[in-house]
Amino acid sequence: MKWPVVNQFNFALIIIATIVFSAFSSSCSDEHSSAAPNNSDPTTFNVLDYGAKGDAHADDTKAFEDAWEAACKIDSSTMVVPSGKVFLIKPISFAGPNCRQNIVFQLDGKIIAPTDPKSWGSGSLKWIEFTKLNKITIKGKGVIDGQGSVWWNNNNDDDSSVEESTTSPFSVLPSSGKLPSTKPTALRFYGSDGVTVTGITIQNSQQMHLKFDSCTNVQVFDIKISSPADSPNTDGIHLQESQNVVLHSSTLVCGDDCVSIQTGCSNIFIQDLNCGPSHGISIGGLGKDNTKAFVSNVTVQNINIQNSLTAVRIKSWQGGSGSCKNVMFSNIQVSDAETPIIIDQYYCDNSKCKNSTSAVAVSAINYVNIKGTYTKEPVRFACSDSVPCSGLTLDTISLEPSKGVKDSAPFCWKASGKLNTKTVPPITCLQQSSNTFKLGIHMLTSKGFNFLRELL
Ligand SMILES: *[C@@H]1O[C@H](CO)[C@@H](O)[C@H](O)[C@H]1NC(C)=O
Ligand SMILES: *[C@@H]1O[C@H](CO)[C@@H](O)[C@H](O)[C@H]1NC(C)=O
Ligand SMILES: *[C@@H]1O[C@H](CO)[C@@H](O)[C@H](O)[C@H]1NC(C)=O
Repeated sequence: MKWPVVNQFNFALIIIATIVFSAFSSSCSDEHSSAAPNNSDPTTFNVLDYGAKGDAHADDTKAFEDAWEAACKIDSSTMVVPSGKVFLIKPISFAGPNCRQNIVFQLDGKIIAPTDPKSWGSGSLKWIEFTKLNKITIKGKGVIDGQGSVWWNNNNDDDSSVEESTTSPFSVLPSSGKLPSTKPTALRFYGSDGVTVTGITIQNSQQMHLKFDSCTNVQVFDIKISSPADSPNTDGIHLQESQNVVLHSSTLVCGDDCVSIQTGCSNIFIQDLNCGPSHGISIGGLGKDNTKAFVSNVTVQNINIQNSLTAVRIKSWQGGSGSCKNVMFSNIQVSDAETPIIIDQYYCDNSKCKNSTSAVAVSAINYVNIKGTYTKEPVRFACSDSVPCSGLTLDTISLEPSKGVKDSAPFCWKASGKLNTKTVPPITCLQQSSNTFKLGIHMLTSKGFNFLRELL
């Protein structure tokens, strides 16, 4: 068996990466992180020294902006958001590109979002944004709370009926005015290189909790994400156009995908997560509105998934093009997922989708050691007529119906690949093909992870 060897190997790499990163970051920040704020230290910028009240009511946005402006000018500076306080912050952007590098945002207190429509104007795609930075770290024991319940029930992108809102479980409504239809992401990183997020909790986001867009060399670990299972579109972590991302050792509970991997992502390494309730780990929907999408080199391993729509899913829209390839899902423990393993090339979240001859090609997808229970069907490979799925490899799969659920057979349509072992249930619907995919230790060969290779 070669899989476990590779898994342990990758695991060792992650451990090494973590040690290296923490040694690296502590050399430039630890002297500030635990000590009391001291404004005679020229590299530490405490928001309290810039007028923040931290009483959960006063608007502390200006103080955060001013502290950032000062921190931004100094190499390896630390902006401190101290513990024991609650800061109300309006939509804010901590922006480069003229900032120095290695800035640490030490978050030990709590930051909350405004819930009044006035604060959001005509709408914002994000609440807290870090953009165009080079080596930026957010760490600490603090909490980012989107106070999203006022948004979750806000059916303002369609005609909402009064009835719907009065019967909703989310009863907090703004006292005056209407929130905009654009729901913000709680914490977004854009166009940055060398991003670390660790320690913090992000909860009750208005929409997605943590998003990376157009970022490289990202690592996220030891974080917590939490929002109710029925909060709409509250993805845990959303990756888009980002490369060399390591995400590990975190717990995510939310109302949508635990982790969502979108177009432009490659060299993504995800390990040791607890997910659920959530919608599971998803690649896609790729190729919406006839777009080209590319995703490659994704490893997802050692994941616990409970009460989820799926465990591991790839979804694409008809009419798209491009590819999704070289994906490894391994050591996934699932309990009570509706359908644990899904490839759906007919993804459609409204009823108006048409079949098309073009589709995002799905190939070289590996499923190894996926075990647990399902509530609807164990495996669903619904692939395109014109661009079938190829190179699906399954190894050590054991999926049984949850208690009280009837046995259901795997479903395959235009899907080919190989069964390396017997599976439970037998996946006889897969068209056998010998074209196999060698497990890529892609993190070793990709450019952004050279530092790992050098350590070996
Ligand atoms: C701040 O740091 C300086 C220099 O290390 C020290 O003399 C001073 O006592 C510190 N002040 C506080 C409030 O900790
Ligand atoms: C699209 O194609 C699939 C597979 O051939 C078929 O099952 C499905 O009914 C079609 N959908 C529409 C809307 O034509
Ligand atoms: C994916 O991994 C392969 C094999 O290690 C590598 O050659 C390729 O460049 C990677 N793809 C991307 C987009 O980085």
